[in-house]
Amino acid sequence: MSAPAGTDTTPMFRDESETTMTTSTTPTTMRALVQSGYGGTETLRWGEHLAPVASAGQVLVRVEAVSPDSGTIHLMTGRPTIVRPFLGLRTPRQPVPGLAFAGRVEALGPGVEGFAVGDAVAGSAPGAFAELVAARVTKIARIPAGVSMTDAAAQPISAVTALQALRDVARVQAGQSVLVLGAGGGVGSALVQLAVIAGARVTGVASAAKAELVRSLGAERVIDYRAEPGPDSWGRFDVVIDTADGRGLSVLRRALEPRGTLAIVGADHVGGPVLDGLDRQFRASLLNPWVRHRLAMVMQKESGDDLAIVLDHLASGRMLSAVDEVAPLERAHAAIDRLARREVAGKIVVALRPQ
Ligand SMILES: NC(=O)c1ccc[n+]([C@@H]2O[C@H](COP(=O)([O-])OP(=O)(O)OC[C@H]3O[C@@H](n4cnc5c(N)ncnc54)[C@H](OP(=O)(O)O)[C@@H]3O)[C@@H](O)[C@H]2O)c1
Repeated sequence: MSAPAGTDTTPMFRDESETTMTTSTTPTTMRALVQSGYGGTETLRWGEHLAPVASAGQVLVRVEAVSPDSGTIHLMTGRPTIVRPFLGLRTPRQPVPGLAFAGRVEALGPGVEGFAVGDAVAGSAPGAFAELVAARVTKIARIPAGVSMTDAAAQPISAVTALQALRDVARVQAGQSVLVLGAGGGVGSALVQLAVIAGARVTGVASAAKAELVRSLGAERVIDYRAEPGPDSWGRFDVVIDTADGRGLSVLRRALEPRGTLAIVGADHVGGPVLDGLDRQFRASLLNPWVRHRLAMVMQKESGDDLAIVLDHLASGRMLSAVDEVAPLERAHAAIDRLARREVAGKIVVALRPQ
């Protein structure tokens, strides 16, 4: 296969026999997707990069699959610009993108217990688009039998966000009605399934192209937001969770029952480049004490324990991985572009090793 634009021709992976799974032979450099500045995928190049080491409380993981998510797009574009003081003003301080990964433990950092070299794990850590990533043990979980590396890699950010939004923020109960805005996306596809598992009746709002997926994940009803811009025609719900709509709080509250809860996960490209809609989340929290509805923002906490719950749902068949495409590493740029263009139904995964 020829190398695509933005790559060189050095093979991404060494032969297994070149390294043994001990700390002493862990390579000092590795192949990684390296970002040269903020922008589109033209800023990303496969190249040689310093290999991470596992510090105290971390494991070093040989990555097999990575799933880009909207956070990968935010880091690549440097939007919203208000977060650049934390990311790096002109170029990202962490030049290797990607957070959600699956792979095998290569080495254990000092003091790590409960994991062994060779364990199949999934989790989140900065710099996941690389041969090796160092991850905190609190942010990884063992992959159960029957769950593939690529399905596991799709869960650590999106599905964990969905679990926490439903359980900790919206506190969804069996029998409640839940409206998921952006039900065809990464977080939304997990929200639909986890709400159904919690015993809720789910309505999803998605583009027509993603309606079939949303229905297959358990939504009773799917609303095409272009045909039915709502919210007055959508009905009233105990819980509304927005991952995409981005409209004002007063508009979305029209879809709530009198004591309902509006949980804001996020929405892209709804404000200017500085805040990009982040202000809506903060306004929800500020307004909350003054209204009968409960208004709350969702702030995902990367958690190995919550990831283990999601992986258990996958292993038992209660949940589907909702992976739209498993792209080979040669198509990493194309996979990130597809996500940025919102073409992905559910999740997309890049396999760094042949599966
Ligand atoms: N608060 C947190 O801790 C947290 C954690 C993770 C993600 N987020 C945020 O949550 C948002 C969603 O993330 P994601 O990874 O799920 O993104 P994603 O995979 O790109 O999904 C977004 C989905 O929304 C759909 N969409 C766009 N406009 C819509 C509308 N008006 N109504 C309904 N659906 C619409 C898009 O597809 P169509 O255009 O085809 O409908 C797409 O499927 C992002 O803003 C992200 O930054 C926040």
